[in-house]
Amino acid sequence: LDHLPLDMIIVGGAGDLAVRKLLPALYTAHLHGTLRPATRIIACGRHPYSRDEYIAFVRDQAQPFIDSKNLDPRTWDSFLALLDYVCLDASDAAGFERLRRACQEGGQRVFYLATAPTLFTAICDNLAAAGLVDGSSRVVLEKPLGHDLNSAREINEAVGRRFTESQIYRIDHYLGKETVQNLMVLRFGNAILEPLWRAPNIESVQITVAESVGVGSRAGFYDGTGAMRDMVQNHILQLLCIIAMEPPVSLDPDAVRDEKLKVLRSLRRMKLADIARDTVRGQYVGGAVDGEPVPGYLQEDGVPAGSATETFVALRAHVNNWRWANVPFFIRTGKRMARRMSQIVIQFANPPFSIFPEAQHNHTNRLVIQLQPEESIQLQLMAKQPGSGMQMLPVNLNLDLQSAFTERRPEAYERLLVDVIKGRLTHFMRRDELEAAWSWVDPILEGWRLLDEPPLRYKAGTRGPDAAAALLARDGMEWVE
Ligand code: BG6
Repeated sequence: LDHLPLDMIIVGGAGDLAVRKLLPALYTAHLHGTLRPATRIIACGRHPYSRDEYIAFVRDQAQPFIDSKNLDPRTWDSFLALLDYVCLDASDAAGFERLRRACQEGGQRVFYLATAPTLFTAICDNLAAAGLVDGSSRVVLEKPLGHDLNSAREINEAVGRRFTESQIYRIDHYLGKETVQNLMVLRFGNAILEPLWRAPNIESVQITVAESVGVGSRAGFYDGTGAMRDMVQNHILQLLCIIAMEPPVSLDPDAVRDEKLKVLRSLRRMKLADIARDTVRGQYVGGAVDGEPVPGYLQEDGVPAGSATETFVALRAHVNNWRWANVPFFIRTGKRMARRMSQIVIQFANPPFSIFPEAQHNHTNRLVIQLQPEESIQLQLMAKQPGSGMQMLPVNLNLDLQSAFTERRPEAYERLLVDVIKGRLTHFMRRDELEAAWSWVDPILEGWRLLDEPPLRYKAGTRGPDAAAALLARDGMEWVE
């Protein structure tokens, strides 16, 4: 299909995601020559822009989201020349007729649905009715894909009536991050880790995705969503899958996705007592981030008075299979935390027998994989402190990926958009994976509803509620900061 002209159709083309992520990513791909020569980008939205007005809007709004060292004025102009705009309402057939007329004759069409998922069904039906979907078309579905298992199933059914599974790209931008893809290489490109990568050699796993930003201007979306649906159901469970999965037989999309699915299906379902004991919900109150005062969640624009939406989640999960028996997976994510930091910590077991004073090497061997803000992999080992006696200290074997490789590192969205254009599905979620993730999350959300407890307050700019630390302290562990 690579020889066909390509129309990249962004439904929601004047929205936040398009402006901040998609258009900058497409521009960078254009700059580096990874778009097809005959590519056009057709943005669709409800606002009645003319083509020129839309281009002026993009010039004004999207440009600040492009890394200034990538901004070459002539290339930016040539990128803007690829844009077109069609005014269209998801439920209005006439708009889709206009879209059909705007598309290139005989070209391949990629539809990026960057709208609320409640519109996906109407959009897909109207695309099909306008004769815009054929065997070469692809559709990209932006998260959140549904609100719970039932709504996710409905969306999958509706999209599945118009596109076959191999045409559907369910995007999770964490799967496009360099370090996340590198996790696969770390695990399956090296033989030395594999014998260690299991119980009882691994005592626990921590996954932290901490953000320092607050809800910003997204309260309208976020308040009905919360951290569990926004971050855990997708990004964090995908990270957990890559850590916990068995080696796939190849990098073939289904080989990888089969293994991830097995992990999701092995997650131990939580009962009400587990939810009460092993999960923490928090919401930030006013505080300071980087020395700057910031408001609490309830004071943010657009947050309804008394909202009980969680902006922080910590929990203890278990993967019920042979490899991971009794190894807790501690998960933590929150907004307005002390700093932006995403990392995975593989905590190895203590030596089975100690010839040194015991306290010296408690929980010392760990692999810390930092995804954000810097990409690094550190293996913490014990070493002898120089001098007389046998004092030990932890030291790090440090792999600094920024300095190990000088190549350009495309942003997650750019990499994934290029994957869509090239028809590579490996880093996208399959329907059964998505539904398995919801099947595990749904009972927790339901449990929280039944328990009906307000979220625990934590001050903006901190590590979240104390209960999150207590979750690990029960097992004599701590979050690695
Ligand atoms: C998005 C969430 O999927 O991921 C946002 O909707 C969150 O709430 C964002 O801020 C985090 O992504 P990143 O790449 O900045 O870690």
